[in-house]
Amino acid sequence: MKVNFLSKGEIEKEVSNIIIDEIKNNPSCVLGLATGSSPLGVYQRLIDAYRSNMVSFKDVTTFNLDEYMGLDEYDINSYHYYMNHNLFNHIDINKDNIHIPNGFVKTDEEAVLYDDEILKAGGIDVLLLGLGKNGHIGFNEPYTSFSSLSHITCLSEQTINDNARFFDDVKKVPSRANTMGLKSIMNAKKIILIVLGCNKIDAVNELLNDEISVKWPCTILKKHLNCTVFIENVIIDSIF
Ligand code: F6R
Repeated sequence: MKVNFLSKGEIEKEVSNIIIDEIKNNPSCVLGLATGSSPLGVYQRLIDAYRSNMVSFKDVTTFNLDEYMGLDEYDINSYHYYMNHNLFNHIDINKDNIHIPNGFVKTDEEAVLYDDEILKAGGIDVLLLGLGKNGHIGFNEPYTSFSSLSHITCLSEQTINDNARFFDDVKKVPSRANTMGLKSIMNAKKIILIVLGCNKIDAVNELLNDEISVKWPCTILKKHLNCTVFIENVIIDSIF
């Protein structure tokens, strides 16, 4: 696992360049995408690159990490809505190539079919991740099995409270989500993790020590052969 400490702007530039280079090298590549606040600057840069004819997404396929249970694409808090609003509506991606976990699956057997779709597409070439305060990646909360594939999960109280900032009432935050599993994530050929802000120090500390534990799901990334972590340098003072 490679670790870089950079400013927010530098991280957004580096990460968007990695994605643009990937598409230039392989116009029909498969991207894995995250939501939340961390990737927003990267998505804006991708939109800018498309608008200035630096890159085309017309043959790119995408797989998002997760979706809240019970929210559809018209709900402004759904990750379907987020992706359309913050990226897909502004680039030339073919809507048939967009995949986002379904927030209306009934069972894990139905949810796991998402991994078959990823496999059929040839696997994820580059997967963009954000980091939860409790170390979650996707919505794989502490103690999720490292061998998990896509599944329905219960969100922790910490995650519900953290994500309440996007809702007008904490009671409206769904308590469950459909998420890629940790094995689905580890199957990606290349992983990029973005960590912005100072409020994730505990998870960052766990990421930077030598231990791998289900208590901190992000620690599994230490086993990945091509994972780069970008940590905002404001965190450094708090760590060292
Ligand atoms: C979102 C996701 C989550 C977020 C994480 C960090 O699709 O999978 O793991 O990446 O909760 O969220 P932000 O970036 O809002 O701090």
